[in-house]
Amino acid sequence: MNISQALSRIQPSRTNAMTDRAIALREEGRDIISLSVGEPDFPTPPHVVAAMKDALDAGDTRYTAVAGTAALRRASALHYERDLGLKVAPSQVLVSSGGKQSIFLALMATLNPGDDVLIPAPWWVSYPEIVRFSGASVVPVATYAADGFRLSADALAAAITPKTRWLLLNSPGNPTGATYSTADLQALGEVLRRHPQVLVLSDDIYAPLRYKDAVHATLAVDCPDLANRVLTVSGVSKSHAMTGLRIGVAAGPEWLIGAMGRLQSHVSGNACSISQAGAVAAFEGPQEFLLDWRERFRARRDLCVEAINAIPGLSTPIPDGAFYCMIDAAPLMPRFGDDEALAMHLLENGVAIVAASAFGGAHCGFAGFRISFAADEAKLTQAFARIASALK
Ligand SMILES: Cc1ncc(COP(=O)(O)O)c(C=O)c1O
Repeated sequence: MNISQALSRIQPSRTNAMTDRAIALREEGRDIISLSVGEPDFPTPPHVVAAMKDALDAGDTRYTAVAGTAALRRASALHYERDLGLKVAPSQVLVSSGGKQSIFLALMATLNPGDDVLIPAPWWVSYPEIVRFSGASVVPVATYAADGFRLSADALAAAITPKTRWLLLNSPGNPTGATYSTADLQALGEVLRRHPQVLVLSDDIYAPLRYKDAVHATLAVDCPDLANRVLTVSGVSKSHAMTGLRIGVAAGPEWLIGAMGRLQSHVSGNACSISQAGAVAAFEGPQEFLLDWRERFRARRDLCVEAINAIPGLSTPIPDGAFYCMIDAAPLMPRFGDDEALAMHLLENGVAIVAASAFGGAHCGFAGFRISFAADEAKLTQAFARIASALK
């Protein structure tokens, strides 16, 4: 049977593929440490679990409104204002089954063949695949470690054309940890003002996981005159260790939220009712423990940066946010050929990581791999011992 032309344009997620491969090897009895998956290893907070149990006991198992329950849209508006400084009405919020679905809906609801989407590379694996699925074209814009992997205003200005429909921004970024300041965003805003046809997707899903700036900067706040063409994606997957519960939220102009809802009504209908009750508790409940989690991630980050930079052939900058290190392994390429071969070699030696090529590394001449440091210290230390010995 033939698959559709749209599907034939896309590849399965390479981060999910590596995680699946690690699970399969483990099931065969191999001892594999997986640093490929992007999810916190902390347990889901007990008050969130309790809220979901209560919802089940109360028989909260029916369809909800497509855009999400009134309670979660209100709680999301509270989250946007408290955590991102962004004032939105509940009617400007759409609840979906994960941030991934929010992004899929936004792009599918607005793109046509012939449109271009600017994506700073290295990028999160799903961005280019979703764009290709829509029939629009991916325009990679290279960023570099020396600039903190941040898109500069000059690079943006040089990349925009009349065909540009979206710019995808991700701060803190996966896989690089790139974190934009207010000054960075205002400089990008200056360029965007000259191109009113460009929408901006600001993927802020890692906002609580910042290690440098006390205040999270986001485009719709730092350039309020552009807010009517910015979609700000957030959620609870990464911040509250709720990856499997599949809740993501998006806030933006009502025309776009309405268009995304129209599509969602024929895709998933609504996000899981029980998970929505959990997300209300996540946004409205205590937040102090997140500071403790952040400090634990910071300690792991520091451990990883030190261990990586001590291994000959590997180097990494200090990521300012999220829970990944993007590791440069260029000196090892003459030995391995490419970073996918290096990834396979490390997997053979008991560590699952994801090659930089999965994140568009080739568009900026970057060869290496990404690790997630959302794993405990003992596991990380053991993984780096295996990597060091595999690369000797
Ligand atoms: C940058 C980025 N955006 C969005 C998502 C989607 O998160 P969710 O699990 O809520 O779909 C991820 C998850 O890996 C991510 O890394």
